[in-house]
Amino acid sequence: MPIVKVNNLVKRYGSILAVDNLCLSIEKGETFGLVGPNCAGKSTTIKMLVGLLKPDRGEIFINGIDIVQNHKEIKRNIGLVPQDVAIYENMSARENIEFFGSLYGLYGKNLKEMASEALEFSGLYEKQNERPKKFSGGMKRRLNIACSIVHKPQILIMDEPTVGIDAQSRNHILSSVKELGKSGTTVIYTSHYMEEVESLCTRIGIVDFGRIIAIGNKNELKNLIDSEEIVAMELDNTSDFRLDELSSLDEVSSAVLHGNQLQIVTSNSHGILQDIIEIILRQDKKIININLNTPSLENVFLKLTGRNLRD
Ligand SMILES: Nc1ncnc2c1ncn2[C@@H]1O[C@H](COP(=O)(O)OP(=O)(O)OP(=O)(O)O)[C@@H](O)[C@H]1O
Ligand SMILES: [Mg+2]
Repeated sequence: MPIVKVNNLVKRYGSILAVDNLCLSIEKGETFGLVGPNCAGKSTTIKMLVGLLKPDRGEIFINGIDIVQNHKEIKRNIGLVPQDVAIYENMSARENIEFFGSLYGLYGKNLKEMASEALEFSGLYEKQNERPKKFSGGMKRRLNIACSIVHKPQILIMDEPTVGIDAQSRNHILSSVKELGKSGTTVIYTSHYMEEVESLCTRIGIVDFGRIIAIGNKNELKNLIDSEEIVAMELDNTSDFRLDELSSLDEVSSAVLHGNQLQIVTSNSHGILQDIIEIILRQDKKIININLNTPSLENVFLKLTGRNLRD
């Protein structure tokens, strides 16, 4: 049974159709990326997943429980890092974490211990008695994350947690997400940075105009656009080079030589790179340089929508 199952979710704000028949299924332990441009409907979807917003239509099941009908039951299993930082500026970092922990039902010694763990996890242990008023944007983000994981939720939903912060905090957050993923937490990670979801997520859904327009792991998504890739190689010499051995490979559409530069056009450079190298070495040539020109997920978005992910 999927840990999150969404069927035909719809949400309108007046005349704006923010979420349009969105369907989604996420398995336990996945780090799932929800990526799309501004106004695609990511935050609206997330707000419905955590019960902050009621869908106009559709169903949401978490652990098989219908949360549109009874979202209170599921609250302790979910942590939300909202897009806009939600912390109390005049309470210390520890007080903030303990406050959110208490909302999730923690108390007493257990609450204190779990707050300490969350402080350690977010790299704020030394700052626990300071008020976030003095914190940088990145530290506030990390505190926001600490508040949402203090109760060790089964599912952590993060809405653009790295927007507008310093590189150090960004790296800290990205490695925290990886750690959570390894420890078995199901993570839903929203971003409009393709490279982030590409490095973090086991599976990615591309959202546009309130719908998921493509879903899969990064290779599956890249395979959606049947773009050609170019493998460019420089060899030490190419005299008597038998090009036909390369061009007869299944997934090679052409192989040409320009001096010592070899250029191979293929639909699957990763799959056949080994074969290409073996053929070259068998012909007693040395490879001086290799350059792979493979499509990125940005290319996938561009190809599917005709637009760039960011303006
Ligand atoms: N409270 C609201 N009232 C009216 N319209 C809203 C409200 N919240 C969102 N919208 C509209 O719904 C659409 C989807 O917004 P949403 O915030 O879900 O997008 P998003 O993908 O999270 O975008 P971003 O990347 O900018 O955070 C947008 O057109 C937005 O203007
Ligand atoms: Mg948003």
